[in-house]
Order: sequence, then C-alpha cells, then structure tokens
Amino acid sequence: MKTPNMLDAKKRNQNDIKYVKYNKEFDKFGNGKKFFVRTYGCQMNEHDSEKIKGMLKSVDFSEGTSVDDADIVILNTCAIRENAHDKVFGFLGVLKHLKQSKPDLLIGLCGCMAQEEVVVNDILNKYKYVDFVCGTHNLDNMLSIIKNKIDTDKRQIEVLSYEGDVVEGVPVVRDSKYSAWIDIIYGCDKFCTYCIVPYTRGTQRSRKHEDIVEEVKKLVSDGYKEVTLLGQNVNAYGKDLYKDYDLSNLLSDVSDTGIERIRFVTSHPWDFTDKMIDVIASRDNIMPYIHLPLQSGSNKILKLMNRKYTSEEYLKLYNSIREKVADSSVTTDIIVGFPGETEEDFLETLNLVEECKFDGAFTFAYSPRENTPAALMKDAIPEEVKMDRLHRLNEVVNKYSNLRNQKLLGTTVKCLVIGESEKDKNKVCGYTENMKLVNIEGPKSLIGNIVSVKITDTKSFSLDGEYIKE
Ligand code: SAH
Ligand code: SF4
Ligand code: F3S
Repeated sequence: MKTPNMLDAKKRNQNDIKYVKYNKEFDKFGNGKKFFVRTYGCQMNEHDSEKIKGMLKSVDFSEGTSVDDADIVILNTCAIRENAHDKVFGFLGVLKHLKQSKPDLLIGLCGCMAQEEVVVNDILNKYKYVDFVCGTHNLDNMLSIIKNKIDTDKRQIEVLSYEGDVVEGVPVVRDSKYSAWIDIIYGCDKFCTYCIVPYTRGTQRSRKHEDIVEEVKKLVSDGYKEVTLLGQNVNAYGKDLYKDYDLSNLLSDVSDTGIERIRFVTSHPWDFTDKMIDVIASRDNIMPYIHLPLQSGSNKILKLMNRKYTSEEYLKLYNSIREKVADSSVTTDIIVGFPGETEEDFLETLNLVEECKFDGAFTFAYSPRENTPAALMKDAIPEEVKMDRLHRLNEVVNKYSNLRNQKLLGTTVKCLVIGESEKDKNKVCGYTENMKLVNIEGPKSLIGNIVSVKITDTKSFSLDGEYIKE
C-alpha cells in the first residue's frame, strides 16, 4: 500500500524525471468483462480516461453503456473545488448500493482526489467497498493494480507523492474520431495560492517535442481534423526541458504537420510571449481562440493569489492578442470571494470584465482546498456574499457573450461538425474556428467535416446556423 502525503507532493525533484516507453505485458485478463469510466474535471482528466479505456481494452475488457451493466467502475476524479468532491462521494454512495446487489463489482478511484491524503484516509476507513485507488503519477500502472486486486482479492492503494515518469505510448481509445486531445506538459509549478493542482499533478514535465509531433502526424494520417494541446499551463511548455524551444516552436512544428485545426489550453498570462502571439496570428491552422484566465481584476487579490501579473499587465497582453490575432475570441476564468476580497476589489474585477468584453467566462466561488496557502488566510468571505458577487459577475459576463455572439449574425463561418445537436436531434452541431458552439441545420453526413455555415440566430452560449453548400 502506498498512500499520498501533501508535504512530499509540494517538493520539486525535477532531476529525477525519466522518459520511458509503456511496455507492460499482460495476459488478456479482462475476458470481455465490461467497464464503465466516469470522468470529472478538466480536459487532462478526459484524456486520462481515454488512456484508462485504452489500457483496459488492451487486455480484453470491453466498454459498457452504464454502471448497471458494468463489472468494473472507475471514477476519474477532480479535486479543484469542494463540489467536485461532493459529486464523487455522492456517486460512491450509489455504487455502495449497487455493490450490495452485485458483490463481484469492482470499484476503483483515480485522478486528482486520489492524490489527497484526506480522501485516501476516508476511503481507507469509511469506504471499504472501494477496491482500488490509483494516483495520477502512476496511471500507467493501473492494469497491474487491477490485476493484483483480482488475483489476491486484497484492496490495492497505490498513490505516489513524487512525480512519475513521462510515459510514452500508453494505449489510448479516443472518444472522437475527428478531434483529439494531446498532452504536451504535465503538472504545474505556479503554486497559485488557492489551487490544489500543483500538489495533485506534481512538477512541470514537458513531453519531448518529437514525440508530440509524431503523435500529431499519426492523427493526421488517421483522418483527424483537430488537435488540442493540453497542459495546466501550456505556455510553460519546454521550460523544464530545453534552452531554446518553447510553445511558439512547438506550435510552428505542429502547424507544419498540416493538421487542419490546432487548439491549446490553458494559457497562464505570465508566460505568454509576443513570439507566441505572432505564431498564432500567422498560421491559418492555429485557431484564433485563447483561454486566458484572469482570476481577479484587483492587484491586491492577484498578489495574494500569487498570479504574478497585475491587472494592467493582463490588459496589455489581452489587447495585444485582440489586435494581432484576427477575429479571435478570448475566454477567461474568474474566482470571486477569495479571502480578503472587498466590494472595491470585486468592482475592479467587474470593471476589467466591462473593459475586456470577454467572449465567455467560467466563474467560480472561491473554495478553500486543504493544505493550500489560501486556506489559511484570514478574512474569509461569507458564502452569501460570494453568491451575490457570482450572480452579479455572471450578469455582466453573459451580457458580453451575447454581444460578441450577436456580431456573428448573418456571417458565414467554418465549423468542424462533431455530432448530432443535443438540443435538436434533427440538427448537427459543431465549433467555429473561434470555439463557438453552433447548432446547424444540415444532414448527418456533415459529421466529421469542416463546412461553411451561415449564422441565423445567436444566444449567450450557442449560435444557430444553416449549412451552405460550396
Ligand atoms: N491551469 C489553469 C487552471 C486550472 S483550474 C490556469 O491556471 O489557468 C481551472 C480554474 O478553476 C482556475 O482557472 C480557477 O479559476 C478555478 N479554481 C482553481 N482553484 C479554485 C478554488 N480553490 N476555488 C475556486 N475556483 C478555483
Ligand atoms: Fe492552479 Fe495556478 Fe497551476 Fe493553474 S497555474 S493549475 S491555477 S496553480
Ligand atoms: Fe481537477 Fe485535477 Fe484537472 S483537480 S481540474 S482534474 S488537474
């Protein structure tokens, strides 16, 4: 049994990181049994789930349609806010009942919550029906963990609190045939004071650029239209590995593969260079969409958050992106109710949002995370004040999303059609170059293609359009 330790998770041991190939050999011990993976959290977790599915299928497990027909259920969890925790523990409650009627059901937990001491202690003491726990740093070892559980019938808890290796070639089964996630950098060294990610995902580790470009080339030959480069802070790409190769170089090299669409998330404003903006602006296949988390418009709060930029610096970068990258859209993340946030601080955030007129924003009420510096800060903001600010912020955010969307009315845009529309099964849906969701009047045969669409109506969170034959 290996359990997590938050103090160890804080340490940074850059020198020990090894680059290795996935070379695990197993008998096909899945025997066709069915698995169900439920994913919480960010795109990196979505992609990790694709690797979990890939590993399971490689030993002859098959994907079930729901928890009810599954022999093994895996929860790939997120620890970013308290409500992410609550959802997972709620679902574990449901699984407890299921296991009473199906005693052979295997239940596993992995992802960021698995890296938290408090969570693993709770699982050890109170959730005895959870059969295995696997951390983020040893995800590639999940099959051994499951096999040990099956062979010995003993609970398996294996969580490392130091960075794992960068493992290439983990089997992957992608959810989409057109658009693919690609990890480019793991972990985070920013230590924003509110955030648990540097503890759950460890130090920054970039993949080698050759491996990334190879992966993209393979996807192009498999018919993929789009790749999204993933990292907690993609703009730090290469810093841990190279002297003179950064995200701008990687974007150019990925662009040269000829893949039709390239996206990347998330960009920390601190590491965004002019060179990066220039590459984004000059390449047609790099999409003009940037997610640029602001967090707060108050310099006092930004400092307490350890974000390392001022609101003035943010605005300068923001304007430079808007000026240089034609028809770009920019979205952001904002936290309200950080400890010590006064009404004046909050009004500074509102002012900056008024000034930037973002295409969209993910807005959050601050949620204290165990062992992070902000959790120990004085002047916690009462829940009702946080909710009031969140509500006021959302009104302004929605006003500008609407306005930005309205500007597209009557224009013709390119969309990558990804599937049936969720709102109306007779329509399809897709994304514009600048990441707007469009519900499209058009045949199902458009799915998987980049097509022209005329925008006929706009809402806060989506657009309506009709397919234009060329
Ligand atoms: N690496 C990304 C963010 C990943 S987490 C970045 O730095 O841009 C996604 C968002 O969750 C963050 O941008 C932040 O707005 C929010 N968040 C993180 N920790 C939080 C907390 N403790 N309480 C509330 N929101 C939080
Ligand atoms: Fe968290 Fe900050 Fe790292 Fe983003 S940059 S993952 S908010 S510590
Ligand atoms: Fe959540 Fe971990 Fe992603 S905490 S947001 S799943 S890196």
